[in-house]
Amino acid sequence: MRIKVLGAAAGGGFPQWNCGCPNCRAARAGAPDATPLTQESVGVSADGERWFLLNASPEIRAQIESYAPLHPREARHSPIAAVVLTNGDLDHTLGILSLRESHPLLIYATERVQRGFTENNVFYRTLQRFPGQVTWRTLDPGRQIPLDGADGAPTGLSIEAVPTPGKPPVHLEGLAETDPGENIGVIIRDDATGGCLAYFSAAGDITPEIRAALERADCVFFDGTFWDSDELITLGLGTKHAQDMAHLPVGGPGGSLARLAGLNAARRYYIHINNTNPLLRSGSAERAQAEAGGWKVAHDGMEVTL
Ligand code: MLT
Ligand code: MN
Ligand code: ZN
Repeated sequence: MRIKVLGAAAGGGFPQWNCGCPNCRAARAGAPDATPLTQESVGVSADGERWFLLNASPEIRAQIESYAPLHPREARHSPIAAVVLTNGDLDHTLGILSLRESHPLLIYATERVQRGFTENNVFYRTLQRFPGQVTWRTLDPGRQIPLDGADGAPTGLSIEAVPTPGKPPVHLEGLAETDPGENIGVIIRDDATGGCLAYFSAAGDITPEIRAALERADCVFFDGTFWDSDELITLGLGTKHAQDMAHLPVGGPGGSLARLAGLNAARRYYIHINNTNPLLRSGSAERAQAEAGGWKVAHDGMEVTL
């Protein structure tokens, strides 16, 4: 399985357009320890021919152009077999609207995320230019299904959704009861090699089920949004704690670094990293602490082969 990080930052990217925090200023100044990142999206492929995008960021066009295996091979063609959505947040879904140039799209998502994206959304009409422009395939937590493209030909990958503590996207807050399908992690298996990727880019907590999924994986991507629960408050940039936004912080005694110590997976990466996070600075004490725990910080262009 090939795993290509197209974007490793949280919503807003790094630097974020309206942010003058020390990290964002360093990135704009071209500091060698603060490399800019686009918003989270990861490509996965068993054969290098057909690719699945985990989340569709607002920067999807540039991300596709950045990686030749995602380029068309014919006058009208895309190697992107499908998009997998792990929740309905705009940093994960806006890219779908950018793929509106009359190309059939296959999208894997929970029922809840499908409805959140399609209902009462006039923009979605631009993806209904012809019958069957978008086909949705439902991810039911706990059920492993083949990760096929639209033609149904096996791609050598299977997928299973794991319910993960999260929250509705900001634009749907307060509009509906909470639903376990709001946010998921996914386990992707390569049928031929047995290689197993656990992808949890947004996680408000680590349930026993998530822990078990991470234990089974050879490669883990986990929520690296914030180092500190208070990060936005300390910097004077907001009033919310990490957990209010359903992101378990990395640092501290209850953080993911401490709680996931001893995980088997040889390859462990933090992704969906907010521009305020000290992990973004390659020389920081926090980066050293994460690396000492066996974690790396994902970055744009990074590739992993399982
Ligand atoms: C998140 O990761 O919490 C969301 O992307 C936040 C947002 O949509 O503004
Ligand atoms: Mn996000
Ligand atoms: Zn910033």
